[in-house]
Amino acid sequence: MPDMHTPFTLGRIRLRNRFVIAPMTRARADYDGTPGALAAECYGQRARVGLTVTEGTQPSEDGQGYPATPGIYTDAHLEGWRKVNDAIHARGGYVFFQLMHAGRMSHPDNTPHHRQGVAPFAIAPGERIFSRGGMKDVPVPRALSTVEVRDTIDDYAHAAPRAIEAGADGVEIHGIAYLIH
Ligand SMILES: Cc1cc2nc3c(=O)[nH]c(=O)nc-3n(C[C@H](O)[C@H](O)[C@H](O)COP(=O)(O)O)c2cc1C
Repeated sequence: MPDMHTPFTLGRIRLRNRFVIAPMTRARADYDGTPGALAAECYGQRARVGLTVTEGTQPSEDGQGYPATPGIYTDAHLEGWRKVNDAIHARGGYVFFQLMHAGRMSHPDNTPHHRQGVAPFAIAPGERIFSRGGMKDVPVPRALSTVEVRDTIDDYAHAAPRAIEAGADGVEIHGIAYLIH
């Protein structure tokens, strides 16, 4: 077993050690989805690891499921992420950005437009979710039309380069749960 404190080459980047921070939702963004000073401080404090994977970040308003999760679809979001990425790079770390569309695991209390979540089918997950108004049942989602599926793909396609523009070293998609699942 290699020493965890030795460097590791991952594609084009040379990680200073073999520790990776898993993507973990922090719910510390401003309610408009902008990662604030607290996010930059939180990520920066942990950036001595070789690689940080960010928390799941919504590519659109529809993609938000939980309160105070960050987005990457407005200019304010991009600037907020730039501060986070700068804080990580300043300590010699690298950062992969995680895109995540929460799909039906959403509540109108939590989204900027206060609409129900969207999914391939109008079937509720039968779960409860934390919301700004406390724990609530997840409502039945609205089924996406074929056109909206294409729009959602476009949302991902626009979000990924914005994450790179904000300074991320790579982009990763949360694909084992939520909308894509
Ligand atoms: C508080 C918390 C938030 C999490 N948020 C995310 C997330 O945003 N995206 C993701 O892919 N996984 C998320 N996870 C899953 C972790 O990445 C996962 O627990 C980690 O990879 C360790 O894997 P294990 O739980 O199978 O041991 C979260 C886990 C915790 C505990």
